[in-house]
Amino acid sequence: MKNAISISIWYNNFLASPKVFLKSMSQPKVFVTRRLPDGGLDRLRFLAEVEVWPERLPPPYELLLEKVKHIDGLLCLLTDRIDRQLIEAGASLKAISQMAVGYDNIDIPVATARGIPVGNTPDVLTDATADFAWALLMAAARRVVEADRFTRAGSWQTWEPDLLLGSSIAGATLGIVGFGRIGQAVARRGAGFNMRVLYFSRHRRDPALEQSIGAEPAEFDVLLGESDFVTIHTSLSEDTYHLFSDRQFELMKPEAILINTARGAVVDPDALYRALSGGKIAGAALDVTEPEPIPLNSPLLTLKNLIVSPHIGSASRQTRLQMAMIAASNLAAGLKGDRLPYCVNPEVYAGGKGE
Ligand code: DGY
Repeated sequence: MKNAISISIWYNNFLASPKVFLKSMSQPKVFVTRRLPDGGLDRLRFLAEVEVWPERLPPPYELLLEKVKHIDGLLCLLTDRIDRQLIEAGASLKAISQMAVGYDNIDIPVATARGIPVGNTPDVLTDATADFAWALLMAAARRVVEADRFTRAGSWQTWEPDLLLGSSIAGATLGIVGFGRIGQAVARRGAGFNMRVLYFSRHRRDPALEQSIGAEPAEFDVLLGESDFVTIHTSLSEDTYHLFSDRQFELMKPEAILINTARGAVVDPDALYRALSGGKIAGAALDVTEPEPIPLNSPLLTLKNLIVSPHIGSASRQTRLQMAMIAASNLAAGLKGDRLPYCVNPEVYAGGKGE
């Protein structure tokens, strides 16, 4: 009797397991717009028919527009334009999952109006991106890229008192524009360098948090005028588009260095060229540009006091795998009708499942 009961419990659990349930119905279809790190999609393959775009470059918009008509879930990257037309074409789309923390490439109001949850991958890339902002800051301050070129060109002849002089980091003032997770992680690193850390954000943070991080709030113009290093960690929106333009560079110190690991369009590239070439600021290091990739004929690339990297702020092996796994989990949840673990438009759940 006891045996019969435990077998029946086991059998009921077995039938209720998602594997049996899902395998017994036709699987939802998912399109993934690029190859992701190995293992990143395992969770998704278990419950959906997964098609992965195999090329190095993103799928053309027209192809994506066609694909989206036949899929239940889309896993996309920041290089895919997910606009009104595309979202409206996805008649059976249940979820959109982006493998990035930023999502300015997705028309969120349209997705929300259609009840489609959109996921992103915050947290796991905070430290990697803060580390990279620091790598750029230090490389620009101490002219690491120029020094490497100088050496390879055979120009190193002796130790010279004034060779490749840069700026001190310890004790300098660090201005952080945008004080979310990544901005705060950058601030913590700044405190470790014994810097004065200022931050500008639309919302003042809890003074206890400010104190624990060692950062002071500042008006934007004050931050620009007092900082030796200004680092951008704000998202791109109508308010932050070309937030850095001629007026802002005028306010910065001539010795200041600008770092951008957020979104390229927060900085007006023409104004940046004028500022760097005209000595309004001393240098800049960009991991993001407007447009991306930066055109090879951009005047910015003629400047010695600029470092550019190809949007690799979060590119550590561990971080990219975690981002892929979170993007897959978000999409898996969306396909099952569950709340996305990381949802950027939770309004879609108002009154519905998951509330
Ligand atoms: C993001 O996640 O938004 C970054 O730009 C890429 O990691």
